[in-house]
Amino acid sequence: MSIKFINGVFVLETKNTEYQAAPDDLGILKHLWYGAKTGRNMDYIIPMSETAFGPSVGDAGEARDRSLSVAPLEYSSFGMGDFRITPSKILHKDGTCAADFRYCGYNIIPGKYSITDLPHVYADENEAETLEIYMKDLGSQLKLTLRYSVIPELDIITRCAVFENACDSDVILENASSLCLDLPFGDWECVRFSGSWAAERTPLRTPLTQGITEISSLRGTSSHHQNPSLVVCSPDCTESTGRCYGAALVYSGSFKTQLELDALGYTRIVMGINPDTFSWTLSPKDTFETPEVILSYSAEGFEKLSHNFHKVIRNHVCRGKYKLAERPVLINNWEATYFDFDENKLYDIARKASELGVDMFVLDDGWFGKRNDDNSGLGDWFVNENKIKGGLKQLTEKITDLGMKFGIWFEPEMVSEDSDLYRSHPEWAIKIPGRLPSRGRNQLVLDMSREDVRSYLFKVMSDILGNAKISYVKWDMNRSICDLYSAELPPERMGEFSHRYVLGVYDLLERLTSAFPDVLFEGCSGGGGRFDAGMLYYCPQIWCSDNTDAYDRTRIQYGTSFFYPISAVGSHVSAVPNHQTGRVTPIETRAVTAMAGSFGYELDPNKLSDEEKNAVKEQIVRFKKYRSLIHNGLYYRLSNPIDDELAAWAFVSDDKSRCLAHGMVFTQRDGGFEYIIRLRGLDPNKSYRLESDGSIYTGAALTEGGLRIPFNRGSYVPFEFYLTAVE
Ligand code: DGJ
Repeated sequence: MSIKFINGVFVLETKNTEYQAAPDDLGILKHLWYGAKTGRNMDYIIPMSETAFGPSVGDAGEARDRSLSVAPLEYSSFGMGDFRITPSKILHKDGTCAADFRYCGYNIIPGKYSITDLPHVYADENEAETLEIYMKDLGSQLKLTLRYSVIPELDIITRCAVFENACDSDVILENASSLCLDLPFGDWECVRFSGSWAAERTPLRTPLTQGITEISSLRGTSSHHQNPSLVVCSPDCTESTGRCYGAALVYSGSFKTQLELDALGYTRIVMGINPDTFSWTLSPKDTFETPEVILSYSAEGFEKLSHNFHKVIRNHVCRGKYKLAERPVLINNWEATYFDFDENKLYDIARKASELGVDMFVLDDGWFGKRNDDNSGLGDWFVNENKIKGGLKQLTEKITDLGMKFGIWFEPEMVSEDSDLYRSHPEWAIKIPGRLPSRGRNQLVLDMSREDVRSYLFKVMSDILGNAKISYVKWDMNRSICDLYSAELPPERMGEFSHRYVLGVYDLLERLTSAFPDVLFEGCSGGGGRFDAGMLYYCPQIWCSDNTDAYDRTRIQYGTSFFYPISAVGSHVSAVPNHQTGRVTPIETRAVTAMAGSFGYELDPNKLSDEEKNAVKEQIVRFKKYRSLIHNGLYYRLSNPIDDELAAWAFVSDDKSRCLAHGMVFTQRDGGFEYIIRLRGLDPNKSYRLESDGSIYTGAALTEGGLRIPFNRGSYVPFEFYLTAVE
């Protein structure tokens, strides 16, 4: 049993961590502890004394030390004396905004809870256990259930909240966040994953100062700009030492994460749907389930935290046939042709790629409707026979006859004004009546909250997928969403639109992935604009960034690796000079960088020199040799490519018998200086053979002394060390 209720305290135990919560005599559910195992009730650590300007709850009588403003709470609400950031705000029919949820009971259930219509962690009864804590508002019939699931083996705890309206009139949820976590007293720093298009998820570590730190998206997607994941760590935390907490929201829409360091030195984290574009009318008897947050704690630095998240996301969030299967090495024609192609050009790319060992050809944007640039055609998911003579079926047959699989690009959520779909259904595009719609990449967004829109998309996409040999779909999404409005929603429910949009995207993904279980879905949003655990429930890999420059990719992939497993990272070798940055890097450098992901190419192989073609052939053989180690092994960040002069990372098999270290030296120092990398995760008592020259090293030598990176002139100089244990 990993969940117990002992002497009035809920104790949730994982292999290395412990979480404690307890209702007090008034039913206020206090958060006592989250961190290392302590072996005792941690209530002594929480503040109990009277605080100036801290009003006590009404049912405390004259006691002055019962203020919600200082108590560590499992979940709190706006309006009854907790002046910190709160996870919920509820508007009642009398116009007041207050709730004070108190404990009423609990249940412990084997297995993992699920959430209707939302992606979530799944696990069976041998892997997980669930606690439900029941709460009720003191001043109304509003009920709240806090759900916790524990996956002890992975040091993972998940949380979500469920509101139930047992009142006789509507209430409006103005904020219904997933997580409220009060951290034990301490000095904490926060690591967020910020960026922009082509520079996603760059870690930014800052100390917390008194007040509120916010990380959020209002773009209708989780966004390139901030990621719905967060690390909070002790100032001394490194990759392999120090305390840190990780939280990842399983959600793909606008979100808000806030951290507040209060006047007394306590830190609170609130995470969930962004309340700035959310309100939800809860009618009598209705329930509302929030998305969930995945939590983990590590006392051994960031890498242990990342391992926990990699395992839970790869094994308990990703689904379907490809979840653990070896991913095909693909070639995508986007950077090779952009919109300028016909069936012969595509076939030539596929044929040459197949000779080099590539497994799958992916036809990107431009194959449908009137789509010769990005101004038209979205929504018309019918092959453009002027471009692809003979149609899709014939092209897929020719390419599959080469022994390759065939994949195809869609951008289902969008519509061009210059499209047959828009001409016949202008009301399906999101526009506020009386205002001009905003355009992004010259396109409008379809109202995914509408069932008729989703049914149409399901039908046209199924026709394409069902009538040609298609093994892969790239699901793209190329603009941020504003003009929030749906013709289907009454004015008083318009605040539900953003969340209903996300539910609509999930519904269509669920229907398509169920109808086509053999198809590998790859997520994309102008690169990595929707790289989150929600999308990974449907798409086990996501195009990491539109920036394919190997140097920039080391930074983007470094940040991505804190939460997301390597198999989830779509990463390709592209041509030089790089189309985004103009940088020239050696083809081997591009290859080792792309191998830290689900590997592929994004170039015209016919334009490669013979030497480069041979390099590609050899890279594919090498990737296939390493693929299971890369995707199933433990990932180690051996440098910080944002601050260091080199990028280095490694994969180590679970049994510590194989290790692959890759990276690049950005700029060589003069005089033949050789950098050293120290490996981690090896068995100090084992001996390892370095494949390149047969030398033998002990695990201890590789960890303590490290390996010299041979000096080679130039910039972005790649290296590879492959080590296997010897008996
Ligand atoms: C954005 C994607 O990230 C690219 O890879 C490509 O598919 C384009 N969209 C096509 O429009």
